[in-house]
This record gives sequence, C-alpha cells and structure tokens, in this order.
Amino acid sequence: MREQWPFDRRGNFRYNEAITENYFAMLQERIVRIREEGEKALQAVKTTAELEAWEVKYLGRKSELNEILKGLKDLTPEEKRVVGPLGNTAKQALFTAFEKTQETLLEKSIDFEKERIDVTAPGVPTPVGHLHPITVVENEIQDIFTSLGFVIVDGPEVASEHDNFDVLNFPKDHPSRDMQDTFWIKSANSQQPTANKEQREEKYLPRTHTSSVQVPFMKTHTPPFRIIIPGRFFRNEATDATHEHTAHQFECLMADVEGEVNVGTFKYIAETFFGKFFGQKVKIRLRPSFFPFTEPSFEFDISCVICGSKGCGTCKQSGWIELGGAGMVNQRVFEAAGYERGKYQGFAWGFGLSRLAMMKYKISDIRLLMSGDLRFIRQF
Ligand code: FA5
Repeated sequence: MREQWPFDRRGNFRYNEAITENYFAMLQERIVRIREEGEKALQAVKTTAELEAWEVKYLGRKSELNEILKGLKDLTPEEKRVVGPLGNTAKQALFTAFEKTQETLLEKSIDFEKERIDVTAPGVPTPVGHLHPITVVENEIQDIFTSLGFVIVDGPEVASEHDNFDVLNFPKDHPSRDMQDTFWIKSANSQQPTANKEQREEKYLPRTHTSSVQVPFMKTHTPPFRIIIPGRFFRNEATDATHEHTAHQFECLMADVEGEVNVGTFKYIAETFFGKFFGQKVKIRLRPSFFPFTEPSFEFDISCVICGSKGCGTCKQSGWIELGGAGMVNQRVFEAAGYERGKYQGFAWGFGLSRLAMMKYKISDIRLLMSGDLRFIRQF
C-alpha cells in the first residue's frame, strides 16, 4: 500500500495516473471500511465512557474519516464528486447511530423509580419577606388621605438650614438649632471653589421634621392644595422608650384663599382620618401651644382608642392620647414662599408616624422599630 501513496515525503502531490487511480479506489474502500467498523464497534459500547472514546475515534476532529474529508480539497472535481458524498453519508450514518446509542444509554442510566415525582406531596414553602410595620402604617395613612383628595409629596431628608428653620420663622437663636437637638452636616459647599458666598455659608442637616418640605413645595405651587408629606426625620436626642434619633413623621398641609380653610376644617379632617385609621369614632381635643410656623398653634390629642376614653396605662388614665402639633399656617411662612400676605389661609399639622405605629401594634419601645432585630420584625 505504501508505494501507492500519491504524496512525496514533503507532502507534495506526485501525479501519476496509475497511482492516483489506486489512491482514489483506496479512499472509497477506506470510507466503507470505517463505516462498517464503526457501526460494529458501536454495538459493543456499554457505558458512557466507552461511547465517548468511540466518538473520538470515529467522529472526532482527528478521526480517520475526518482526515479523509479534510483531504478532499486535493482531489480532482470528478473524484470529489464520488468521495465527498460517500464520506459525508458515512459520517452522517455514524453520527445518527451514535445519537441513538447515546439516547439508549441515557435511558438505561435513569432509575425511573427513584426519579418518580409524587405530585400529591406538599410543596416546599418559599420564604417571602413582608412590609415593615412603619411602611404598613405609612401606606395606610397614604390610602386614607388620597381618598380625601390629598396628594402625597416627597422631600429630601437632608435639608438646608434655610428650609428647615429660617423660612419656618424659627428665630436665629432658637434652641432646636442647637447641636444638642440637631445633627449638623459639614457642608461640602464650604470648600467648593465654584460655590458663591451664600452657598458656601449655607448649612445643611438631616431634617429635624417633615415641615422642612412645606416652603420648597409652596414655592412651586399655588393654593388651593392639600398635601401630606410622610418621611423620616432626625434629632440629636437622648433616646428612650418614646424618643428615637431617627423616626418617622407625617405632615399635612392644606391651603386655600382666605376664609376657605380654618381650624374647623383641620378638626374635621383629623377626626375623619383617625376614625378611618383606628376603625372607630375618634374625638380630637386641641390645647393651645406654640410653633413658630403656625399662628395660632395647638397640640392635639385624640380620645384613647385603647380603652375607649375610660382611662388606661396608655393614656395615663386621662382618656386622651397626645399625638402631635398643628396650627394655622403663619403668614410669614406664606410670605417666605412668595405668597402675598393675607391672601391665603391654611392649616398644617404633623405627628409622629412611629408613635402611631406603636399604638396600632401596641409596641412598648420605639427603639425596637429601627433596631433591625428580626425577632421583633417577624412578629408583624
Ligand atoms: C414638630 O415636629 C412640628 N414640625 C409639627 C408641626 C407640623 C406643628 C405642622 C405644626 C404644624 P414636634 O417636635 O412636637 O413638632 O413633633 C411632632 C411629633 O413627632 C411629636 O408629637 C411626636 O409624636 C413625634 N416626635 C417628636 N420627636 C420624636 C422623637 N425623638 N422620636 C419619636 N417621635 C418623635
């Protein structure tokens, strides 16, 4: 056979009619033999490992058949027409046989009894999270107020001293501006070369109440409007069971032209809201108070929903629960928003959303709410 090889030692094709004819016949024989041999060998294959070895030998990149197909390019067009289809058919036949054996082996390897699925078996529960009690209360409040025609407004948690204090008529020396009450932020603007003098001197703080959103909102809106602003606020507090450094508040602001919104409107809205929130009739009591941004100002209490005003530990036997502050918007605040003095009238109120959540879920210590303790959170 060796002398029939039509290539010289360097791999150059040596044209010789007798040799090439022989070579052409030999190629065809080889293809037929490879196919027969392969099919026979496949019948003896019993394992996946054996099948893999078979695949390498008969269909692999370096298999004899593949080498022959790679050499097609050196044949004459007539020879190609014969050897090409012969080789490809053999390859296809071996491949089909290979796939069939592969399938049979796979089927044999499956233990159907073991794989059987009991469709009646109970499922494995997927753990799902749930909303934090503060979020639940916040959502409920938003639902009630939107049903009363209020719009929910969001505002930045970091406010300027201007928005948090100045425009709300807090005097420059008001104690709540002290370091002991407020966390002050070192302003990046103070070092900013492009900032103007005013920007460089502006101080920032994590807002101490949601009232900081009042004037920025009013600067871009004109009465009539009715909005609520729920959100976090921050105070430099010595914490205890009812005081946190980070808690949630809720602000309500309603304004219209002079004479349209008064204390009666506030009382009505407050009673309707708390009635819906607690699912029972709730009375509101006002007590005179002072806030620089409302005039007149009052603290308001609601009738105790725990004991029905009979007197209990929560209401300290008084039948009333203190909830927040409120008042008619001070005209100076309207002026700071750019409104004409006396043209509009409105009320504002704010209360501790965290404290409302405590009442709803009978939580004895406010610090549990933001503690991140899953044993506590999982109870809701
Ligand atoms: C204010 O923050 C006013 N901005 C409320 C207001 C708005 C008055 C609009 C008038 C008009 P005060 O500091 O009282 O007010 O806080 C309001 C409520 O927030 C309190 O009644 C209390 O429920 C809650 N609160 C205040 N400080 C804390 C704290 N450290 N931890 C938890 N809740 C607090």
